[in-house]
Amino acid sequence: MTKQRKKKKRNTFIVINILLLIIIGTLVYFLTTDKKEEKNIQANQPVDPLENSLKEETYYIEANLNRYLTYAKDKNLSPSKIIADVNCNLDKEKYKDTIATNLQDNNLMLVNKYYYLTEDYEPDDLITLNAKYNTGINSQMRKEAANAFMEMSDAATLDNIIIKNASAYRTYKYQTTLYNNYVERDGKTAADTYSARPGFSEHQTGLATDINQIDNSFENTDAFKWLQKNAYKYGFILRFPKDKEDITGYQYEPWHYRYVGSKIANQLQKENLTLEEYYAYYIQNKNSN
Ligand code: DAL
Ligand code: ZN
Repeated sequence: MTKQRKKKKRNTFIVINILLLIIIGTLVYFLTTDKKEEKNIQANQPVDPLENSLKEETYYIEANLNRYLTYAKDKNLSPSKIIADVNCNLDKEKYKDTIATNLQDNNLMLVNKYYYLTEDYEPDDLITLNAKYNTGINSQMRKEAANAFMEMSDAATLDNIIIKNASAYRTYKYQTTLYNNYVERDGKTAADTYSARPGFSEHQTGLATDINQIDNSFENTDAFKWLQKNAYKYGFILRFPKDKEDITGYQYEPWHYRYVGSKIANQLQKENLTLEEYYAYYIQNKNSN
């Protein structure tokens, strides 16, 4: 190869390399500039102040953020109320797109206007409460709940208080008759405020009990006051409290208690939570993470 040809080849090589460097440099410049701009746009986007307030709330669930914001539109609600409502599905229509209750949740299974039990569901560990603990015909409860109930009633007796079950486990069929009778008497809209549709009653879980007298005057009795102070120690919660009607979907029922076990009953009492609120935050939220 002549000296001239060698020189030409080297020059071509240098030119190609310079061109390559220019191309790569240009590409890197454009790619990083795009990213920077994207970041700047994101950083400059105003964050909804409501979003910040929601995130500071104890029971905030990240997966529900869009539902919180949609639900809050055109409503004048506090962040904690928005969170409580949406966590308990109040942004959804009752009895629509219902979900089968998770039986694996055992003592914490949730049955309400969004979660149902099938017609054939019957707990396999029902036992009948001894006659001295009963005033009514529906005298069965799941074993653990029944034992806790009898223990609670015995403890009340020592304080000269009578605690008796008036209605505990109810079959799907029994609830059908009960609900239909109420609808006939008061109409569907009214009946839905105090009676569960068949499949949607937690009496079918075998974990609920109506105590002593099924009317609002029960609130004025010593038995009610005793329960207010002591029921949670035996694992029972007042299931439909006065100030949470919209969350539970039912009017206040001072007589209706639900067994959840003493550990959770203690927590619900301390945090002033309904089973709906507890379920959303501590059970569902955990499962989805
Ligand atoms: N009264 C309650 C809501 C029921 O029927 O299960
Ligand atoms: Zn009840």
